[in-house]
Amino acid sequence: MIHPILRMGDPRLFQRSQAVQQLGTPELKALVADMRETMLAASGAGLAAPQIGVPLRVVIFGFEHNQRYPDAEPVLYTEIVNPILTPLGPETDEDWEGCLSVPGLRGRVPRYSRIRYSGFDPEGRAIEREATGFHARVVQHECDHLDGILYPMRMRDLRLLGFSDVLFPDAEIVEE
Ligand code: NI
Repeated sequence: MIHPILRMGDPRLFQRSQAVQQLGTPELKALVADMRETMLAASGAGLAAPQIGVPLRVVIFGFEHNQRYPDAEPVLYTEIVNPILTPLGPETDEDWEGCLSVPGLRGRVPRYSRIRYSGFDPEGRAIEREATGFHARVVQHECDHLDGILYPMRMRDLRLLGFSDVLFPDAEIVEE
């Protein structure tokens, strides 16, 4: 089922989400299926459960090609429950980011360049990976949602927050 995506201003986006207590349940599988359907319908690169009003530590991300980020390299589609993220070194990169909960806007956001992340898939199988580039960025963005953080809260210079069509008048970035 496709759910409405909460937009910035909704206090539920600023809550800290709770850990999932039991893996492999029909409820968890149904949540992830709904998140996937909702993300695909919005052409998102990722989605976190609190964005559909469910305060649980579940994120999904990944795409072969994404019309919201036409230049991004592919990221393996992943469903991850109770993710833990560890920076691998202090280096950061700043790049443009958007969010389905902040429609129409893009901002320059600093993120760790290299991370390790771990967690479980909905069946309970362990996931542990290292990531760089856009993959590392999207994981950090989605995990931030679980702690009630939206990307503008990570920005250093809010002059670099703007409307996509103003910032990139010639780009073929498809917003919802
Ligand atoms: Ni987001």
